[in-house]
Order: sequence, then structure tokens, then C-alpha cells
Amino acid sequence: MTTSPSPAAARPADLMKKLVALCKSRGFVFQSSEIYGGLKSAYDYGPLGAELKRNLMGEWWKDMVTTRENVVGLDASIIMHPDVWRASGHAAGFSDPLVDDLVSKERFRADKAPRPSPGDELPITCPDKGVAKDWAEQIEKRFGVALERDANVLRGMRALDAKTVGFFPKGATSAAQTFPWRGYVSPTFGSPFLSDERQFNLMFRTALGAVDPMQDVAIVLAELTAAPELAAALKAKFGAAADEGALAKAIADGDRTRMLRAAIEQITSPNMAFLRPETAQAMFVQFKNVMDSLGLKPPFGIAQMGKSFRNEVTVEHFIFRSCEFEQMEMEFFCEPGTQKEWMAYWKEQRMAFWRRYANYPEHFKFRQHASDEMAFYADDCYDVEYLYPWGWGELEGIASRTDYDLSQHEKHSGVKLRYVDQEKEDPETKKKPWIYKPYVIEPAAGATRGLLCFLLDAYHEEQRTDAEGKPVTRTVLKLHPKLAPITCAVLPLVRKDGHPEKAREIIQALLAAGVAAKYDEKHAIGKRYARHDEIGTPWCITVDGQTIADGTVTLRDRDTTQQVRIPATEAVQQVRERLEKA
Ligand code: GAP
Repeated sequence: MTTSPSPAAARPADLMKKLVALCKSRGFVFQSSEIYGGLKSAYDYGPLGAELKRNLMGEWWKDMVTTRENVVGLDASIIMHPDVWRASGHAAGFSDPLVDDLVSKERFRADKAPRPSPGDELPITCPDKGVAKDWAEQIEKRFGVALERDANVLRGMRALDAKTVGFFPKGATSAAQTFPWRGYVSPTFGSPFLSDERQFNLMFRTALGAVDPMQDVAIVLAELTAAPELAAALKAKFGAAADEGALAKAIADGDRTRMLRAAIEQITSPNMAFLRPETAQAMFVQFKNVMDSLGLKPPFGIAQMGKSFRNEVTVEHFIFRSCEFEQMEMEFFCEPGTQKEWMAYWKEQRMAFWRRYANYPEHFKFRQHASDEMAFYADDCYDVEYLYPWGWGELEGIASRTDYDLSQHEKHSGVKLRYVDQEKEDPETKKKPWIYKPYVIEPAAGATRGLLCFLLDAYHEEQRTDAEGKPVTRTVLKLHPKLAPITCAVLPLVRKDGHPEKAREIIQALLAAGVAAKYDEKHAIGKRYARHDEIGTPWCITVDGQTIADGTVTLRDRDTTQQVRIPATEAVQQVRERLEKA
């Protein structure tokens, strides 16, 4: 595909707003349950969005599975055994410490917050002067410091060291008051007045079994709350379980809320299940079955794509981050010691995939993770980042995960997840066979996020002049032809004179050849071209008077708007050739 010389700077200033509006008006993406007020955490893919998503995921599957000898596919269940998530660490650790700004009430992830350096001033930037007055009063009342108001900014706080902030009245050279601090400020307003960090589980819970566990909860709670002494009633009800874990701790602390909460966990945990927060774990859990059933030998990959669910703290930027989304992930199992080579190979392959479908390949780049950013078990990690309208951000993670996941599932399941290589010597004992847990390279991409990237990449506004010389804006989605929801539209110039009949003949031939084609006769021809430009249809075939006279049609190219005349009998072949070459 040709690359137009349009840098990110040439994007319309309100690109996201325009794209979201186009997605709705043209049937790509709708807000979930819109007629009931809508859900911000989930989206519905309309007729064109569904095709675009299928095409993107189809291209990924082709690229990762069907065109490779050493990668196989998997389509695992969304609900897995709860122990999977205990082994993977998601049940305990799939949570981000969250903090509230005590002044603005902004809630944010502690690990993503700005971290000023010792000595830095900590100005609190309020939305406006009125709010600044309000917040200054709140801070004075709650923390006893009178910050200086400078329009909408509150001044006077300063970072002393990584653990302390100080209040410096105007002109003071030493702190009049100090406060303990955790080294960061709230991201939007810069406030150092923050709550404790709290854990939130990001996995969606559900219960397996037709009997509603809430009935059991209600019965037990009725019993417990009627008892004269809650701690004694809990011990009588739960026996040994009351001597350990959260229940024992809550009893020891005499905290009634936590006691009841722990009791509810006790009652519901036998039936508790989670919606998968990633597609990846199934590839580890089914590693042995897949390997044994197909007689595979490392290096090989297991790939899967599909829905994942996360109770995200913030859902943002349309479909960029939502609670229900789709992923495309592959676990590549290789011999320990070869992971560096495979990392280099998959990095190159994955970047080539994204850039292949882009108008602006330079809007995709790698970012290597710093060592303190990586999970403790990973030995290397890169993000494929895309240049979103709000800046560079993650699209795919490519992680070298060592044998951590297989080790965890071995430990929790008791099943050996190893490959027995009869032909090789164990590097330590120098004896055959070599029995090892493969190391893993994991390219983990967002499918719905990828769809957003390609919509952003495709959205163009071109300034043109119409037939009367007036300036007009042409909106065109320059989607790669292999991704475009409709490959070819067939348009009769008028709804008479045999044009519709001929157009129907052509469309039948295209459909029979497997080309995604649509017949379109509504509105004037110019409007129809504009509509197909807006939804990214790469080619339009038009049947006109000349078609009836000499059997030729026009074939219009979306990006150049150039038209060529071709025999109608060659329409299928010409469209297929162009699609293949794209
Ligand atoms: N198995 C590894 C894993 O899931 P991740 O970085 O959490 O890694 C991989 O997710 C990709 O999935 C991300 O790069 C992103 O494209 C996509 N993704 C993650 N959370 C998402 C969300 N809430 N909404 C949309 N896409 C998401």
C-alpha cells in the first residue's frame, strides 16, 4: 500500500471526536445498550465494525497460525477453573493499587502517577479560580496549611525527600509543617494530599451453578447478625476456616464489616468463577494436551484470539480501554537459552504485521521496558506503541516470560508441563534425554485496540473543489483493502435503462468469487461515492449507459478517485488482482 506523506500533525485537531461520530453514523461502533442510557465500559460493533474486526482478526490468524508450520490455534473457554487465576497470580495480584486525591476526589493508579523529585515545588492546578478558593479552604481546614492562591494554582507545597512533603509559607526558606508522603501526586491536579493505596480486583466474578448463591448468603447473614456475639457465631459456623486468612484477621481486629465480608467470601467461594482477564492462560493450561495430541516439539506456538474482561479503573478513549475487549495472543514455547533469538524474531514479525496495513508505518514503534517496569520473572519486554491523538501508547506487549507460567501451573496443578527431548543431552547432567520446561515468548495484542489504530490511521480529510469550483472536504477512510468491510460496491448510474439488472449480474459474480461486495443504488452517484469513501470501500464499479452499449464499466479507486474503464466481464478478476496486490 502506498504511504501518503501526512504526518500526525496533519491529523484533524478533533480527530477522536470525528472518528467516534463517524463510527456511530456509519455503523462501525455503537455505545453498548445506548437506548437505556448506554454503558461506557463496553461497545457494540455494528455491521461495518463487525466486518472490520473479523477482517483484522482474520489477518492476524492467517499471519500467526495458518501460514506457519510451527504455530497452532486454540479456542478455549472464557470461564476457566478458579485455580488457573490463583496459579497465574491474577486472583491475588490482578489489581492495581488505587489512590484518591482527597481534595479533587480524582481516583488514579499509584503506579502511573507523576513522581516529582526532592526539592520540586508541588503546585496544585485547580480547574478554575473559584475551585481554587474552595480547595484552598478545604486544605486549610483538613491539613492546617494556608496555601497561596495564584489564579487557579495553589502554591506552598514542596517535595522534601521521597517520603516527606513540606509546607513553605510565602517567602519561607524552611518548611513550617511536614507531612508523610509516598512520592507521587495526583495526575490531573498535582495534589500531594492523598488517601492510602487500596487494592481492587480487576477480574469479573460470576458463580457457577444454577442455584443463586445469594440465597445462601442471605440465610447465613440472617443467622449471624441475629447472634448475640458475631465472632463466636462465625467460629461456630465456619470452624477451622475462621482460624485463618481474612476471616481470622477480621475477628482478631473486631471489625464487623470485614467479618461479614469474609463470611460472604467463605459462602460464595466454592462456586466462584471468573471471566478470563486475558486469553493467554489457556495456552499454558492446555500446553500438554496440545503438544501431546499433535506430537509437537518445541519450538512451537499456541495462538488464541477472543474476548477478555477486566474491571478497568478507568475506561478511556472510546474502545482503547474498555471492560470487555478482544485480544490476539500467542505463546511461543522454545528451548531455554534460545529465547533471545526468538524474541528478536517475533519483534520483527509483529512490527511487520502492524505496519503492513498502515498508511503511516512510522506511527508504530517499539518501547523496551525498563527493568523496574517488568514482571520479576520476565527477562525482556517490548511494547509495540502507536501514536494515538493523545500521544504514544501501548498496542501490543511482547514479553520474554521465561518458564514462569508453566512452573506456576505445574506447582498448582501437580501436572508436569515439560518436554522430553530424547535426542538431546541435559546441559547439566550431560545425559539424554533433556527434560525441560520450555521458555516462552508472548506477543499479546489488543484486537479492538488494533481496530482503533487502523481507524485512526485511515481517517483522512482532503480539501478539494467541486464541479462549481467551491471548496469541499472529502472524508475518506483509507483502510487497507484487506481490512475494509466492503471490498467493492457496485453502483447502477440510474435506476432504469437496464443499469440495475447489469449491476446485479456483476455483484452476483463478485459474491460468488468470495469478494465482499455490496449493491448500492440510493442517492445520486456523487453521494454514493462519498458514502463509500467515508466507510473505506476501496473500489466502486459503476454501470452506466456505455455499459449497455459496449459492455464496459468504470472501476473507481477510493484513494486517487481515478476511474478506469474495463470490460464488465473482467470486473471480478480485476478486483481480485488489486486485492491480492494490496
Ligand atoms: N497476556 C498478557 C496480556 O494480557 P496486556 O498488556 O495486559 O498483556 C495485551 O494486554 C494487550 O491487550 C494490550 O497491549 C492492549 O492492546 C490490549 N488490552 C489490554 N487491556 C485492554 C482493555 N481494557 N481494553 C482494550 N484493550 C486492552
